Amino acid sequence: MNTTDAVTFWDGVHAARPAATDPPPNGSLVDLAADLPPGAALELGCGNGGDALWLARRGWHVTAVDISAVATERLGARARSLGVGDRVAAECHDLHESFPRGRFDLVSAHYLHTPFALSRARVLRAAAHALRPGGRLLVVDHGSTAPWSWNQDPEAHYPTPREIAADLSLDPAGWAVERAEASRRLATGPGGRTAEVTDHILLIRRTA
Ligand SMILES: C[S@@+](CC[C@H](N)C(=O)[O-])C[C@H]1O[C@@H](n2cnc3c(N)ncnc32)[C@H](O)[C@@H]1O
Repeated sequence: MNTTDAVTFWDGVHAARPAATDPPPNGSLVDLAADLPPGAALELGCGNGGDALWLARRGWHVTAVDISAVATERLGARARSLGVGDRVAAECHDLHESFPRGRFDLVSAHYLHTPFALSRARVLRAAAHALRPGGRLLVVDHGSTAPWSWNQDPEAHYPTPREIAADLSLDPAGWAVERAEASRRLATGPGGRTAEVTDHILLIRRTA
């Protein structure tokens, strides 16, 4: 499997979803960022862009990255129609191949899972290094999947937040783990279906 397959797969996933005019943000981002002063944010695997739009409305300048041009083009159009086009830069990157430029006060990666090759440890390590001192990296992963997810592999292993942090091999003199926990939430899927799922939440702060 290569980048072309991954682009085709994710473009297909996004194109099959209705283009929501104002998608909601992830609750874990809202919990973390509601009290943070706005700055520069990077969102990895932005999907429908609900997080980027929520941050931009709060004054953040957001670089939102996805492998799918369907996703990034939709987000750019939504941002413009919602009046925050000047605060959202939607960029198409295969994070397996390239990482956006810049220094950030917040990097978030929500459910950055894919059936294709992606060295998440390398990507998240690059994200930690792209933080300004005092900046935070928020990684929210599936700890289980909903019945409507593309990933129904019964053998799937969901690394714990501590395992994810260990894979990043960050120098404790420069980065501190602020949160590493599992959390349950009610997820809503196609047609309004709901299911309880587990999230694995990791929050790392750059201290120096
Ligand atoms: C499960 S979705 C999560 C989307 C969004 N973060 C959310 O919380 O709804 C994973 C996202 O990562 C993107 N993605 C998958 N592989 C990628 C890669 N190699 N580089 C950049 N984005 C990728 C997909 O297109 C998709 O939008």
